[in-house]
Amino acid sequence: MNPTPQIVVLDAGGQYCHLIARKVRDLGVYSEVRPSETPAPAIAFAKGIIISGGPSSVYDPGSPTVDPAIFAQGQAVLGICYGQQLMAHLLGGQVRRGEKGEYGLATLSLDETTDPLFAGLAGRQQIWMSHRDVVGVLPEGFSTVGRTETCAIAAIAAPQRKLYGLQFHPEVVHTTRGKEYLANFLFRVCGCLQDWNPRHRVPTLEREIRECVGDRNVFFFVSGGVDSSVAFTLATRALGPDRVRGVYVDTGLMREGETDFVSRMPGIAVERAEERFLGALEGVTDPERKRHIIGEEFVLVQERVIRSRRLMDEQWILGQGTIYPDTIESGGAEKAAVIKTHHNRVAGIQALIQSGRIVEPLKSFYKDEVREIGRELGLAPELLDRHPFPGPGLAIRCLCSDRDAPLQPTPDGVVIPLHSVGVQGDSRTYAPVLAIDSLDHARATALINRVSGVNRVVARVETRVPLAQMSVRACSLTPERIARLRRADAIVRRLSHESDYDRRVWQFPVILIPLGTEAAPDSVVLRPVDSVDGMTAQSVAMETDLLRKMCSEILAVEGVAGVFYDLTHKPPGTIEWE
Ligand code: XMP
Repeated sequence: MNPTPQIVVLDAGGQYCHLIARKVRDLGVYSEVRPSETPAPAIAFAKGIIISGGPSSVYDPGSPTVDPAIFAQGQAVLGICYGQQLMAHLLGGQVRRGEKGEYGLATLSLDETTDPLFAGLAGRQQIWMSHRDVVGVLPEGFSTVGRTETCAIAAIAAPQRKLYGLQFHPEVVHTTRGKEYLANFLFRVCGCLQDWNPRHRVPTLEREIRECVGDRNVFFFVSGGVDSSVAFTLATRALGPDRVRGVYVDTGLMREGETDFVSRMPGIAVERAEERFLGALEGVTDPERKRHIIGEEFVLVQERVIRSRRLMDEQWILGQGTIYPDTIESGGAEKAAVIKTHHNRVAGIQALIQSGRIVEPLKSFYKDEVREIGRELGLAPELLDRHPFPGPGLAIRCLCSDRDAPLQPTPDGVVIPLHSVGVQGDSRTYAPVLAIDSLDHARATALINRVSGVNRVVARVETRVPLAQMSVRACSLTPERIARLRRADAIVRRLSHESDYDRRVWQFPVILIPLGTEAAPDSVVLRPVDSVDGMTAQSVAMETDLLRKMCSEILAVEGVAGVFYDLTHKPPGTIEWE
């Protein structure tokens, strides 16, 4: 059992609620997320309520709202961004529709006040804004405490009622003093006590696993990722190695050394299925078809494993590494939903879940907390600090083309007629790539905004022959191309680890594209990015020396004609190319 949450974060859409709840827990206070419309009496136990930001406008039909009774229960309430607007709107103030909005960094001027939320924070400071609408007229009893050049009401307070609002986001790193606002809210306004450290939860988690499993055994499908490895290790500690089994499916789409790495973990058996996966993908070029086929094959293999190992017997239950954000429906969780369907679609697994034969020891933790638990369990840093790696594996980093096509020189660069996935607003794009000759992020961003019909800009770093002699060639996912990508990926991983570059990036996909010559048909794209949660990302620069070294080793791989560098942020380019 977790402690009773001292803080409840009401989810007003998007992923902000999780960022906030995570930051509150980082400050040592247990918090949970609830749907925004949760009735006030159901959260009366909390010392404070935070209403999160979200993409809606309070005037949109069906936009998220809260039970107005939360403002009159004597609890402290902090509204952030949309949460501030909603609070003002429900309490009789007015929200004005913004024409162009304010996105990114801004400077806040905060008045000198005696309000506990703002203690020690008066003065000018950098904040991060992302909004269209603004509060135009304050509700009765509120006063304005802070403003920016374009937003006259950026921080509001009604301290006697313990109600506060911030138009900016204290939960994001770009708000330099954001943590102090949250700490003031927790400790000065709500009077919270520090009651949370995930590392201390290990004995309780082990006891809970024993209670849930009883005298049965547990099996896991492990992926080599952090969550399933930590869940598997916890279960092994709780029940002993004889009662826990892990199965790892080798799809043939893994990185170099991955299967060996995972099979060295005690208690894990490898189910080899390379031929099935690669056979089913033969001749396929469309990215959605690739994903679909991989999902289907996964289901078949899992069913085969469950049948052949008789895991449906009463003495077995399923263990999963589900983490907190996966358990909550929220506007921005499409990816989680996609990832989860892999597992949930399996009929055998559905049946286990429905009959309650499942144990998910990490379901109330965030990723960083899972890492902390892993450290407490003594798991190796190489495992815990791994970059995220997508479930469908190298398949979504190996681009295919259904036709031969020449490059198209333009005044801005060279258009590569190869489609990659991107995002614009809430929708997905599928468009060609523009190659330029300089590693210039600013120029790339300007070009992306100006040139229509492309969603990505890459720099040509080095090619064996001039770009004009290269072309896109028809090809699909062959074992030969996967092997080539695996080699290039391993080189990049080794060099970025040796130079510590891997600590400065959040993820570093390496992509193989069918751009080259008869003798060397493919090229490699480097895509180092920084991100907090993968929802948005920035392309990251690299020192010349390291880049040179990578280039020369990659160009020595058989069949590789060139090395490119993806300069595109997300949006408009997704992290993966697919
Ligand atoms: P995109 O490409 O959408 O990726 O910018 C965002 C993050 O999600 C990861 N990703 C996946 N992870 N299964 C996963 O487990 C998937 O199907 C999948 N697709 C993308 C991607 O690596 C990045 O971290």
